[in-house]
Amino acid sequence: MLPKVLAAGSAITLVSGAPTSSIYFPSHSHGHNKIHNVQKRTSGSYLTTFGGDGSSLAGWPGSSSWIPFDSAFEQSRGMMRQSCSQFGVPNNSDGETNDIKDAINIVSSETGVDKRFILAIMMQESNGCVRAPTTSYSHRNPGLMQDHDGAATCNENGVQNPCPKNTIIQMIRDGTAGTPAGDGLKQLLGRATGSGDQKFYQAARMYNSGSLDPSGNLGLGVATHCYASDVANRLTGWFAGPSGCDPNSVGQLTGTVGGVIPSTGSGDTAVTPGTGTQQPPATESPPETGNSGSGERYPGASQSCRRWYTVQSGDWCEKVEQKAHTTLEKLLGLNSGLQGDCSNLWLGYSYCVE
Ligand SMILES: *[C@@H]1O[C@H](CO)[C@@H](O)[C@H](O)[C@H]1NC(C)=O
Repeated sequence: MLPKVLAAGSAITLVSGAPTSSIYFPSHSHGHNKIHNVQKRTSGSYLTTFGGDGSSLAGWPGSSSWIPFDSAFEQSRGMMRQSCSQFGVPNNSDGETNDIKDAINIVSSETGVDKRFILAIMMQESNGCVRAPTTSYSHRNPGLMQDHDGAATCNENGVQNPCPKNTIIQMIRDGTAGTPAGDGLKQLLGRATGSGDQKFYQAARMYNSGSLDPSGNLGLGVATHCYASDVANRLTGWFAGPSGCDPNSVGQLTGTVGGVIPSTGSGDTAVTPGTGTQQPPATESPPETGNSGSGERYPGASQSCRRWYTVQSGDWCEKVEQKAHTTLEKLLGLNSGLQGDCSNLWLGYSYCVE
C-alpha cells in the first residue's frame, strides 16, 4: 500500500510526508513492525523509529536522503522561535536565529562537519534556544549544543538578551570542534568505527552519552535511548510534534519501524510543537503532462539520466508517475535516497524519470 504524499509549502519547503493512509511501513523495513493505532503523519512530524546499530543495513538513512541544510533550517525556525519558553527565558529574536544559521555555516567550514548534522544535534540538545541554560551531570553542559564544559553561554549567572553573535558562534564551535575538556562532533566522527554514514549516528550517540553500548545497539545502555533515532528523524524531516520513539522499547529493535507510535508521554525528548513554517497540505492541482525538469537536480539522481521531472507543489509519487509517465520502481531505482514510501520528495528539485 502506498501512501499518497502531498507536496506542501513554498519553494524552500521540502515535500515532506503527509500520508493520507493511516499506516505506513517503509518497504525496506524488516521485522518488528506490528504497530497498532498508528497515527497519520502530518507534515514535519516524526516518521520512523530507527533501531539497531545505525547502519544502512538496519535501515538508517544515508546522508543522500537528508534534507538540504537551507530547507531544514527554514523549517526549524518555527521551533526555534518559541523554544526558549520551555526554559522560561525570552524567545530567540529573528536576528538571533539568523546568527545561528551563520554560525553553523562558519563552524561547518572550519571543521568540515556536515552542517545538517550540526543543526540536527543542536535541535536535539536545545531546540535552538540561544538562552538554553547550562545543565550539569558529571560536568557543565552549556549553551545551544549543551557541549562539554565550553566557555560560551547566554544563560549562566544571568540571562543575556540579546545573545551576542560571537557567543552564538562559539557555542556552535564548542559543540562541533570540541573543548579543552571534551570531544565535539568532529572528534566523535573521527572516533566512530562504523561504515559510511553509520558514523554519524554513532557520533550522535557518543555526543549524548560519551560511549557506545558494547552491543553496538544505539538504543541500549546508559544514554537517552531515543537520541540517535531522534537525530535520524531530524535529518530526514522531523520539524514539529513529539518524538514517536519509545525509550523503553527502542533498544529491542534491530531495524526500522514505520509510522508514528502514539505518544505515551514517556518520551525522553521534550519537543515543543513547531508553528509558523508548517503549511497546510496543498490541494491537488489539475492533471498535467509532465514538465521540462528544469529544477535543480536531486543529488541522488542517476548520473546517466535521460529524462527529468521537477517536483511541484501537490505532487506525490503516484502523481509523478502519471505526469512523468514512469513507474515507482524506476523512480526508486534512478534516485538513490528516495524512500520506498516516497515520503521525502524535495519540492522544486528535478528527479530522474528515465
Ligand atoms: C515564546 O513563544 C511562545 C510561543 O509563541 C509563547 O507562548 C511564549 O510566551 C514566548 N515566551 C516569551 C518569554 O515571550
